[in-house]
Amino acid sequence: MEEDYVFKIVVIGDSAVGKTQLLGRFTRDEFFLDSKSTIGIEFQTRTVDIARRRVKAQIWDTAGQERYRAVTSAYYRGALGAMLVYDVTRRHTFEHAARWVDELRAHADKSIVVMLIGNKADLAAAGRAVPADEAAAFAEEQGLFFSEASALSGENVERAFLRLLEEIH
Ligand code: GTP
Repeated sequence: MEEDYVFKIVVIGDSAVGKTQLLGRFTRDEFFLDSKSTIGIEFQTRTVDIARRRVKAQIWDTAGQERYRAVTSAYYRGALGAMLVYDVTRRHTFEHAARWVDELRAHADKSIVVMLIGNKADLAAAGRAVPADEAAAFAEEQGLFFSEASALSGENVERAFLRLLEEIH
C-alpha cells in the first residue's frame, strides 16, 4: 500500500555511539557486533502506522568521524526529525551533544523535532559515565525529547523512533 507521508529523519552524533546499529535495529530488527564505521551517507526506510496513517520513515545515517564529515545543508535539507545519539559510557560523546545541537540549529529547519538518545544502556550498570537525569536536564533546556536506549538489546529503540515520528505527525 502507498504511504500517506514520507518523513525524513537524520541520525547524528559522534563516531561509534551506535547510530548505524540503532537504525538497523529499528528498520530491520538487526544488530551486528562488528559493524564498520559508516563512510559517506546511507539511508534506510521503514513504514509504520501512526494515527491511522501510513508513514514512511526515511532515516539517514552519516559518519560521525570528522574526516568523513563533509556534512552540508544537503544532509539536513527536508529533515523533519533528528536522532542525536551519544554513548552513555563515553562522557565526551554527551559533552559534544551541544555542538550537534548547534549544527542542527545552523543547518536544519527551525521546526525539526529532535530526540536525544543515550545509547548502549545495556552497558550502564557497569560503565555509566553520564547520569540519566543530567542528560534529561540538558534535553529539557534545549527543547529536545530524551530517552536512553540500547541498539544491542533493542530496549526503547522502537519506542524512541515511534515517539519521534508521532511528534512530527
Ligand atoms: P560511525 O559510523 O563511526 O559514526 O559510528 P556509529 O555511531 O554508526 O556506531 P555503530 O553503530 O557503528 O556502533 C559502534 C560500535 O558500538 C559497534 O562496535 C557496535 O557494535 C557498538 N554498539 C552500538 N550500539 C550498541 C549498544 O546498544 N550496546 C552495545 N553494548 N554496543 C553497541
